[in-house]
Amino acid sequence: MIVERRFGDHAVLVEEHLEGDEVSLLALCDGERAVALAPARDYKRIGDGDAGPNTGGMGAFSPVPEVGPELVEELVATVHQPVVDEMARRGTPFQGVLYAGLMLTSDGPRVLEFNVRFGDPETQAVLPRLRSDLLDALERAARPGGLAGLELEWDPRSAVTVVLASRGYPGEPETGDAISGLDAVGGEVEVTHAGTAAGPAGEVLTAGGRVLNVTALGDDAARARAAAYAAADMIDFEGKQLRRDIAGVPV
Ligand code: GLY
Repeated sequence: MIVERRFGDHAVLVEEHLEGDEVSLLALCDGERAVALAPARDYKRIGDGDAGPNTGGMGAFSPVPEVGPELVEELVATVHQPVVDEMARRGTPFQGVLYAGLMLTSDGPRVLEFNVRFGDPETQAVLPRLRSDLLDALERAARPGGLAGLELEWDPRSAVTVVLASRGYPGEPETGDAISGLDAVGGEVEVTHAGTAAGPAGEVLTAGGRVLNVTALGDDAARARAAAYAAADMIDFEGKQLRRDIAGVPV
């Protein structure tokens, strides 16, 4: 690539190979300070064991056991807060959600990416655990300095989200298939729609690559994932794809 200039006469960016565990840490920002949401872990590849191509995310869980409150504080102080401070210094204060995708390496945390939005599917696993009023927190973030004194309360239980994707995803997803079993899901399971549409008779059809998110709460990650997979298995459509190793070994 470099010697033969295979991509033409362009600069080549060499990136450090990072090994470790990924964590997504989102923070609400009010232009002055960053307040962390609960950490989550996302699963980006299509297949179990991180096989196959990258996707928009095939599942998530929260909390992340190795990312306790002290590490969260450290991450916000070293990753999110400096961004908020620098944006304010430049006269362009940032108010909103700052998403940091992080790799926890043996040399310490490293930033993989920033987004200025909620993460998908992390949010599906994080927000069901939020016990504080989300609207109040968002309104406070919209006021300069409005997050002062905010302490978010979290449900100590675990949440696991399993994404149901359509046949062909992430390449060329096929759509228009009828989805069955949505009414059978109950209990502490939340099904959020991502790529669905209403059919002519009111039936629910697949209408995108990632179709549904199935999120369950449980007293621990094992119970949450058992409930999430039980619900995910009740829902069906032609060519349904899901990872079986979200938050644990394949089930
Ligand atoms: N889960 C990755 C993202 O929202 O970009």
